[in-house]
Amino acid sequence: MTPAPDAVEIAPSTHWIGALDPALRDFDIILKTANGTTYNAYCVRGDAGVAIIDTVKESHAAEFFTRLEQVTRYDEISTIVLNHLEPDHSGALPELMRRAPQAKLYISAKAQLMLKALVRNSELNFNIVKTGDTVDLGGRTLRFFSTPFLHWPDTQCTLVEEQNILFSGDVFGCHFCDARLFNDRVGDFRFSFEYYYQHIMRPFREHVLEALELLEPLTLKIIAPAHGPILREAPRSYLQRYRQLATPLLHNEIGADTKSLLVFYISSYGNTARMAQAVADGAETIAGVRVSLYDLQAAGDLPFVDLIEEADGLAFGSPTINGDAVKPVWDLLSSLAVIKVRDKLGAAFGSYGWSGEAINMIEDRLRGLKLRVPIKGVRAKLIPTEEELERCYDLGKQLAQHLTGNIERKTISMSELLAQEQSHA
Ligand code: FEO
Repeated sequence: MTPAPDAVEIAPSTHWIGALDPALRDFDIILKTANGTTYNAYCVRGDAGVAIIDTVKESHAAEFFTRLEQVTRYDEISTIVLNHLEPDHSGALPELMRRAPQAKLYISAKAQLMLKALVRNSELNFNIVKTGDTVDLGGRTLRFFSTPFLHWPDTQCTLVEEQNILFSGDVFGCHFCDARLFNDRVGDFRFSFEYYYQHIMRPFREHVLEALELLEPLTLKIIAPAHGPILREAPRSYLQRYRQLATPLLHNEIGADTKSLLVFYISSYGNTARMAQAVADGAETIAGVRVSLYDLQAAGDLPFVDLIEEADGLAFGSPTINGDAVKPVWDLLSSLAVIKVRDKLGAAFGSYGWSGEAINMIEDRLRGLKLRVPIKGVRAKLIPTEEELERCYDLGKQLAQHLTGNIERKTISMSELLAQEQSHA
């Protein structure tokens, strides 16, 4: 096992001064880290000043300061750049600012509120930077690139122009701790790179593509992310991989003008299945909508999340069992955190025996995921009546009309309204 290194020179007068966390097995609860992680921070020395790029998690501050002191004195530090203020990178910032009070802090505009919450100091001094702004260190120029939502609103990247080194924050990073540090020396970390993208960056696919537009034209010799290996071998291949990952996974053979509605259901006695078919049939009557019907009983490892990422509307049918929707529905809904579903259209329906809570519960969950749920779901006690199937048909039709922007205004009488309310009571 390679021992933890001192500060490591990654290019002339530019050092890695981060910290290793090899024992970490869970990051932010949700991510598994079989190889631990690193909190990468860097020191860039120019003729007229020294810059510190990012810090480390507070628990690892001592390690960071030890390496920092190997390459600079605190009174030489003119510049501190925080590319991202999540605590794993800003934990040592308050202490660094205390030790180097003369240093100017550079952050993105969106980072201000987070900084104020992090450093409880009313006289806090910082500079806001955006794409194209620069800081001159004397023979070393830091150029900033605003790359918001990768994966927080505040995230940015910083380039050392003369050395073509991109300090990319979480972007192009991964949780993989290996004291050999560089991608051409560490163990095989490909799974970790992909896993990190799928869990951290995938929900922000549109922002990934925007960031790539900014970063792809750059000449890059080294990509130095805030976690995991430093990418000095074939750095452009990581940009290319991000572009592949941010491109829809499924070949989309329908035209851009055609909307996609997915109807998922699971059914104990065929009742919710009949309702699902009616929803699909109703949606089918509207031109410009492709309707797909899936039985979650056969879900297994099918790539429904990939389908949902590309869809415009989602309808979920579930029976109510013991006052709840059934597990396959919750399993699918709980797996949607890794993709962007905000503003998609959502709906629920289902058959029930006693109480029928599943519909409202699914609708609440869809709203929680920021889907639009404009149409009240349909519930049917046990075997759906013709009238209830008609309402499912109408639900499908209305969903499709919402997707095409061709919403049919319907006048409803007070007696119909009361009847609907009673059926949902
Ligand atoms: Fe590595 Fe988003 O913090």
